[in-house]
Amino acid sequence: MDSVKSPATRTPLIAGNWKMNLDHLQSIAFVQKLAWSLKDASHDFADVEVAIFPPFTDLRSVQTLVSADKLELAYGGQDLSAADSGAYTGEISGQFLSKLDCVYVIIGHSERRTMHNETDEVVAAKVAAALKHGLVPVICVGETAEDLERFGPSAVPVSQLKAALAGVPSDANIVVAYEPVWAIGSGQAATPDQAEAVCAALRTVIAESLSDDTAAATRILYGGSVKSGNIAGFMREPNVDGALVGGASLDIDEFSAIVRYKKHVGV
Ligand code: 13P
Repeated sequence: MDSVKSPATRTPLIAGNWKMNLDHLQSIAFVQKLAWSLKDASHDFADVEVAIFPPFTDLRSVQTLVSADKLELAYGGQDLSAADSGAYTGEISGQFLSKLDCVYVIIGHSERRTMHNETDEVVAAKVAAALKHGLVPVICVGETAEDLERFGPSAVPVSQLKAALAGVPSDANIVVAYEPVWAIGSGQAATPDQAEAVCAALRTVIAESLSDDTAAATRILYGGSVKSGNIAGFMREPNVDGALVGGASLDIDEFSAIVRYKKHVGV
């Protein structure tokens, strides 16, 4: 299991989940400015990968810009349908996201689990749909403050991840995001120790559910009140391979400072 703990082969991923913010015109201006900011700073995308998750209605504009300017920015949807096509009013197929050159898709964000009643079964079906359409699912798990009190820190995220991985091929290309619900948008991030403990437990789930090699290769992100001032602490942890950033991903200076965490804190 030693290889499972080695972060050496995993490229860190800093991902911005825009949630329901920025229309397609705003997304164009934002992505241009973000690209300039990272270019000015000579950011090496092979060293730290950057992905953004705009609303569906922005994706075509983002695709056009990324392809015209040959930006090394990855992007994806914030959700997808478990179904391929048909009478599902308001749903978006993974096939549509693939056609827009999305690399990733967020699945099972706590806001979808709570506001849209997404169960573990729905999340597992969406993970299967993402893989079927060649997308890398960013599988979100995390406990509420009440769960933390009742069951301790890792029980709920571990059980959510086990359910999400049921039926996933052992060599699947996935990303996992540990987002404690109590830390999302609260300004009260987990400590690096707390994040590390749960991310290590999640890596063990991947090893047991899929394989040791997949566990060693899979990026596990921390999310919940990540800022430029606390990112370095998370990134020093061996089982934390990046961040899923909400509010701070909407501020270009802040987000690019998070992406450049190695530079400004000398990690
Ligand atoms: P905040 O960074 O705003 O806490 O949101 C985290 C999140 O939910 C990312 O998916």
